[in-house]
Amino acid sequence: MASSSLPLACVVLAAGKGTRMKSATPKILHAVGGVPMIRHVLSVCSELAPSKIVVVVGPDMKTVEDAVVPHPTALQREQKGTADAVKAAHAKLKDFIGDILVLFGDTPLITTETLEKIVAERAATKAAVIVAAFRTIEPGSYGRLDLDLHGNLDAIVEASEATPDQLQNTLCNGGIMLLAGEHVWPLLDKIEAKNSKKEFYLTDIVGLARQAKLSVSYVEVPHEDVLGVNTRAELAGADAILQNRLRERFMQEGVTLIAPETVYLSADTILGQDVTIGPHVVIGPGVIIADHVTIKPYCHLEQVTIEQAAQIGPFARIRPGSQIGMGAHIGNFVEIKNTEIGQGAKVNHLTYLGDAIVGAKANIGAGTITCNYDGFKKHRTEIGNAVFIGSNTALVAPVKIGDGAFVGAGSVITMDVPNDTLAIARNRQTNMEDWARRYREKQKYDEKNK
Ligand code: UD1
Ligand code: MG
Repeated sequence: MASSSLPLACVVLAAGKGTRMKSATPKILHAVGGVPMIRHVLSVCSELAPSKIVVVVGPDMKTVEDAVVPHPTALQREQKGTADAVKAAHAKLKDFIGDILVLFGDTPLITTETLEKIVAERAATKAAVIVAAFRTIEPGSYGRLDLDLHGNLDAIVEASEATPDQLQNTLCNGGIMLLAGEHVWPLLDKIEAKNSKKEFYLTDIVGLARQAKLSVSYVEVPHEDVLGVNTRAELAGADAILQNRLRERFMQEGVTLIAPETVYLSADTILGQDVTIGPHVVIGPGVIIADHVTIKPYCHLEQVTIEQAAQIGPFARIRPGSQIGMGAHIGNFVEIKNTEIGQGAKVNHLTYLGDAIVGAKANIGAGTITCNYDGFKKHRTEIGNAVFIGSNTALVAPVKIGDGAFVGAGSVITMDVPNDTLAIARNRQTNMEDWARRYREKQKYDEKNK
């Protein structure tokens, strides 16, 4: 927990158009580790247990409002800059007395430790403005921190306004600021849009605070934590860093990753102890994997729960709404969607199971297909405990196979099969004795007499 003596409110700026992303989707909804950037920022903010988190959005950003639920949003009518965006949150913080932590929705790699460091700096220095700064050899478009001769923060200069000399400065603004509530609104009112972009820069608050004889301070934080995502390349860069963090954390927690650099994880992935994940596995959002599970190479999983000691893959695709029971085996080229697989069941080869339930210890033969869609609606297939489905069976849903039943290979099952029954639904075989030999002889004879 933060050591601030004052209550804290977070204002997360998310109203920017994100033009550099060249996207119809608002920038902060682009995902890093399968989760929209803004959600990363909000979950880290929540760790500080602030009194309130307000998200500043632009007009027509219903998708952003939905993505930030349950946090209240404030509307910034026109995207006139970061200072104007903070002002837009004022109405939602009228009754709030305490510190205001401003964060950007486009810095998804922020960590609780870094926020705590900023809050601790405020408690220690009592400065009215604390800036999260970082050093980098490639300061690019970040704002630069101007220090006075004593090393105190004087002002922040935006890259677009900086002189060539100032651009050499490698001490950059990470975008996060902690502001003393009693000063923030009057200072914001003084900010003018007198710059090349004609925007109200939040960064001007530093110089204005100094002019008002208020103390300002900065705290150096890891560059990674405040990495700003403005382009698709930066999005990919942030994702790569997050992937490394996730892999590192899981390996520390007792997960084996074979070729970790090829395993793609999501920010909300949950992995138990002694899970083994082979190369080239993609774990999308909403995946929970219990202890001792093995995921072999080239699997794709999304919104699924895998119970203890199950074995998945190689080359399996497990889609949303699926649950794989304890010790079950899902093999190569198997697709499973919205399906519950019972304990110890086996679905080992070339199968599609959708909208189904498979009982414990059932064995689903190679090439089994649940025909779950009639062109209009989806239908369910129920397969009981210890059922044996022969290879290349089509189960035309809705259909129910009772416990202990057998289905002959190559069947097209359109009716329910009672418990312990053998169902065969294919043409009976005809054997024509000696036919093949006679056929070959006729071919030879025809060839000779051509
Ligand atoms: C900003 C900082 C820069 C800092 C960098 C760190 C300013 C003026 N500049 O630059 O010093 O080094 O972040 O990443 O603050 N937003 C709004 N409304 C607006 C404009 C922006 O809500 O009118 C939001 C955006 O959605 C975004 C955040 O504010 O989440 C930052 O805006 P962005 O345009 O990305 O600022 P940078 O140019 O990155
Ligand atoms: Mg930015």
